[in-house]
Amino acid sequence: MMKRPILIAASPNTQSDDIALAFKGVLQPWKWYEPAYTNELESRLSLDYNSEAITFDSARSAFYSYLKSLELEEGSEVILPAFSCMVVANAVLWAGLRPIFVDCNKVDFNYDLEDLEKKISERTKVIVLQHSFGFPENVAKIRSIVGENVKIVEDLAHSLGGTSQEGKLGTLADAAIITFGIEKVISGVRGGMLLVRNEEMATKIREMRAKLPRFPFLKTFASLLNPLLWELIIPTYNLGFGKFTLGRMLTALFHALGLLGNMIETCEYKACKPNWLPSPISPVLAKLALNQYEKLETFNKHRCEIASIYKDELGIKDMKDNNVFLRFPVLVHDRCEVTAITKAEGIVLGDWYKSILYAPKSSLEGLKYIEGSCPNAEELANKIVNLPTHIRLDPEHARSIAKLVKPYIL
Ligand SMILES: Cc1ncc(COP(=O)(O)O)c(C=O)c1O
Repeated sequence: MMKRPILIAASPNTQSDDIALAFKGVLQPWKWYEPAYTNELESRLSLDYNSEAITFDSARSAFYSYLKSLELEEGSEVILPAFSCMVVANAVLWAGLRPIFVDCNKVDFNYDLEDLEKKISERTKVIVLQHSFGFPENVAKIRSIVGENVKIVEDLAHSLGGTSQEGKLGTLADAAIITFGIEKVISGVRGGMLLVRNEEMATKIREMRAKLPRFPFLKTFASLLNPLLWELIIPTYNLGFGKFTLGRMLTALFHALGLLGNMIETCEYKACKPNWLPSPISPVLAKLALNQYEKLETFNKHRCEIASIYKDELGIKDMKDNNVFLRFPVLVHDRCEVTAITKAEGIVLGDWYKSILYAPKSSLEGLKYIEGSCPNAEELANKIVNLPTHIRLDPEHARSIAKLVKPYIL
């Protein structure tokens, strides 16, 4: 039995310096809206990506603002991966545009290029590239398919800091979105950014952002508390009997008190926009994100080391070594059993994307997904599990996880 539970989604990147910073933040509310924090984060990424860098409360808001700034005709189409998360599709709907979902291939979970060719049309104005799990999309290839007039947006949610043969991810297309969400490559608990290389457009988006109300005070408070609360929950997550453990009770309590926050609000499941979105990033959360950004290389080096352990232990040969996997995706038979046996050892694996758009079936119509239109994604949704690669997972744990999962690998 492993001592500290491994919970892939529970504040996975948080280290002691992040906790100290969040704690200091809680104690100094008069500094929460200090503009210098936001400016520092933006300047840093602007330099690294040779791009305009504009922060928001989330990547979905960054994408929404980008789409609005394009002033596209209502009903224009935006191509999105079906093997993804619904929040990106919602941003398209909020902007009055039409999401068109393209299937994934079964090798790297990126676009199935044949399906892409079928679904592209005169109305296509934007396409999002996900770089799924850390596998880079071939941007030049996509450009040759979609042509020069379609804006390509790289989504770095899975791949911040990654590179491909073409160069640094995030610098290869018209724009990129970054999330600083809790489970992503680096975490400021809540936050996002748009990278655009067009100055005029950046000015327009900054002007739009200047008119938005600030990130809510109470949500800032809950976000600062988040890493502190997980520090209480994680060590006690399995302390108790069956489902009645201290950690689970604390989770329920903190949720009931509204302290853990929700990355997706209830109304978003109905494609509605919460009225506080979009908003600028909360500056104190930008400070947390910058602290994590300074550690990006270390985090990603660790992710590569863990991924190479998985590859060795699971006998996966034909996979490139330099991909940075936010989570290491594997296909298994009997996912329920895999989840159960790992849970019994205190390990909660990831389930991206166990359903189309990671959404309940009842949300799909509102998201404009047509059932049966992306058969690979629908099939893989039943077989995928994600193995953790985060900084707090040591190589020995990775080996134990691989041993548990190996008998089920497809
Ligand atoms: C693939 C992908 N892209 C973008 C996002 C949006 O990030 P945010 O939560 O910051 O809006 C998510 C988030 O859940 C995601 O999974």
